[in-house]
Amino acid sequence: MMNREILKVKSLSIKYGKEAPVVKNVNMLIGHKEIVGIVGESGSGKSTLIRSILGLLPKGSSISSGEIIFKEKNLLECSKKEWREIRGTRIGMVFQDAGRSLTPIRKIGDQFIESIRSHFSISKADAYNEAVKMLKKMYLKKEDNIMNSYPFQLSGGMKQRAAIAMAMTMEPELLLADEPTSALDPTVQAQIVRQMMELRNNFNTSIIIVTHNIALASYICDTIGVMHQGELVEWGTREQIIDSPGCEHTKNLLSAVPQLEECNLVRKKSAYIEDKKRYEAV
Ligand SMILES: Nc1ncnc2c1ncn2[C@@H]1O[C@H](COP(=O)(O)OP(=O)(O)O)[C@@H](O)[C@H]1O
Ligand SMILES: [Mg+2]
Repeated sequence: MMNREILKVKSLSIKYGKEAPVVKNVNMLIGHKEIVGIVGESGSGKSTLIRSILGLLPKGSSISSGEIIFKEKNLLECSKKEWREIRGTRIGMVFQDAGRSLTPIRKIGDQFIESIRSHFSISKADAYNEAVKMLKKMYLKKEDNIMNSYPFQLSGGMKQRAAIAMAMTMEPELLLADEPTSALDPTVQAQIVRQMMELRNNFNTSIIIVTHNIALASYICDTIGVMHQGELVEWGTREQIIDSPGCEHTKNLLSAVPQLEECNLVRKKSAYIEDKKRYEAV
């Protein structure tokens, strides 16, 4: 089932300062057009892992071992210039808080146009049209109004869609999303998650989505990895993880999902289907 691989993480360990590693010996393989979910409780190392793939680790952190191979290139050997070329064009990123992708004091349109023109030498008018096209693809209506708005004038869901539109403009081969819907209410979460699945189909993008919500992961992902205290303790297809979790930590995550609460393992499967219906109904 594994199609062409796009990203390979090999024995990756990451630490902050002199502390023990917070990402420990992680191995993952992500295929072309595959959607992978990384789930785990807060502090398990999900953000650290995903940021390392984009060369965006905070100061004080270091990669103590391992390789991150993106299309046969070891990203850890990239120069700053090579990183800049990859980031935003071949690998896109969306954060939990669209405020981190968008500058609060500048109009969406100005940011969007600047972002496009930093990668392509095209006129402002052409960049504007490109931006509007992407906003439409994210089902944002009144694109001209949005281009002319400051981030604070938009709802959380609209901001996040605008941020995803911006991340997708360069048609990245890989999109990394760190809790992209966690700050949004469930209805909006469901819409955005569905749109991300469409992106995969329309742009042939592979997606890694970090979430603490295993129900959401079970809906959107082909493959799910479970992190616990820096280790990737489980990795498998959605069906394997939801229907027959092998690991205590995965079972705990499943039992913590409100919709699955009082269910035994057998019922969990139907609850997952219920949940899928719920998402699809929106
Ligand atoms: N900038 C940082 N400096 C020091 N420790 C950090 C920093 N960021 C995260 N950590 C620590 O690394 C561990 C993993 O954090 P993180 O990757 O943010 O987990 P998650 O995204 O799963 O919540 C936590 O113990 C956290 O306290
Ligand atoms: Mg995090």
